[in-house]
Amino acid sequence: KSMKKILVVTSRAPFSYRYAPGGDVRIYNVGGVATALSTMLKGTGGTWVCWGDGKNDMAHQEETTDGYKIARVFLNKTEKFGFYNSYSNRVLWPLFHYFRNNIHFDSTAFKYYYIANEKFAKKIKENITPDTIIWVHDYQLMMIPSILRTMDISNYIIFSWHIPWISPEFFSILPEAKFLAQSISKSNLVTFHTRLYEKNFFNTLEYHEIKVKNRLKTLAIPLGIDKNFFHLSKTMAIKPKKEKASIIFSIDRLDYTKGLLQRVKAIEKILSYRKDLIGKLVYLMNVTPSRTGIPEYDEIKEQLEMEVGRVNGLYSTTSWVPIIYIYRKISQKYLVSLYARSDIALITPLMDGLNLVSKEFVATTDKGVLILSKFAGAAEYMDGALIVNPNNINELASAIVRAMEMDGEEKMSRLKRMKKDVYVKNSNWWYKRILTTAERQWHVSGE
Ligand code: G6P
Repeated sequence: KSMKKILVVTSRAPFSYRYAPGGDVRIYNVGGVATALSTMLKGTGGTWVCWGDGKNDMAHQEETTDGYKIARVFLNKTEKFGFYNSYSNRVLWPLFHYFRNNIHFDSTAFKYYYIANEKFAKKIKENITPDTIIWVHDYQLMMIPSILRTMDISNYIIFSWHIPWISPEFFSILPEAKFLAQSISKSNLVTFHTRLYEKNFFNTLEYHEIKVKNRLKTLAIPLGIDKNFFHLSKTMAIKPKKEKASIIFSIDRLDYTKGLLQRVKAIEKILSYRKDLIGKLVYLMNVTPSRTGIPEYDEIKEQLEMEVGRVNGLYSTTSWVPIIYIYRKISQKYLVSLYARSDIALITPLMDGLNLVSKEFVATTDKGVLILSKFAGAAEYMDGALIVNPNNINELASAIVRAMEMDGEEKMSRLKRMKKDVYVKNSNWWYKRILTTAERQWHVSGE
């Protein structure tokens, strides 16, 4: 069986470098996509084109590590600002999460987004042969397929979309909408995490009257968690719980799409109408610093910290606080121990492409209840979760109380259904299915 060569393209690198006196040290990206792709490349070999944005990455432009090659693209300050801060994260990100008021339309930013995508494309060109499969990821790199095609590169392109794909009418408010959708349509295979996003994408092509050759194929296939995670979680899940109060847990990047304020309000609601639950629950809220310096992110942080402080001020006693707020990146090990100790995971984004936290919790817990937003892509698959609309604070509050009062038998039967699915549909399953689809299609079309 002939395995093609693979070249992966992402905005973020699998790791960046930080200066240390004894030599630069690597800071690994533990995100779901990065972990899945590095596991894959360790097995298959290949190349990873990414953006070297770490302070010391310049000294490591190209290197071979773990059996694959990393080739980094560099952006100057203006390019970075236009590409990353502005167009990717103040236009595309809010657009694709239906945050109309957070979109800052900006044609100059688009110019730099295009320039950055061109830089990626040039780097790709330097690293391929005719039988390389080019696998591009996410909203920061939408222009790549079209730029590659104008460079006369006819290689097989997979485009994996990791955030929601929205309704065509909403997408069309973007001045560059048609141009961007046209570019993605020049891929051979486009993957989404859910059927809904896949459907929206097809409707978008139709809306803009974008004609596609029959070479365009799509797949709705959710990313899974890494095999190593199951190993780690097994060693932690057996720890007995010490706390008397119910532990409600969440971990998110600090992002306005995550519905963080609504959760704090739900806790406040519970404490206001169920005085008997005062002291009986603790909400352990971990948020990871993300996209700091972008105004909407700095604002949501301020609002969140005010809300947490306000609710804690209203209900804390000398021996108890309702919300434990942790604003920093925690280690994988510590995270797993928190999953294992928690009674409830409160994963209620206002909009989220998939959400792997819900899967990690299900994999780790042996008695926990998952409360999941209907607007997380994972809700399409997690049939044992309590599904909620995060905009409805009363519904959130009663789901938490219901989870606290749920009997062991119901918890087990809900978990059992999900555990199997999460285990089978892991990240290896995800990339293997995508690659097999690509190879089969390439073979059939004789390209
Ligand atoms: C989301 C996006 C990714 C992105 C990640 C972290 O999961 O889908 O493409 O890399 O957030 O955001 P950052 O801006 O730090 O890359």
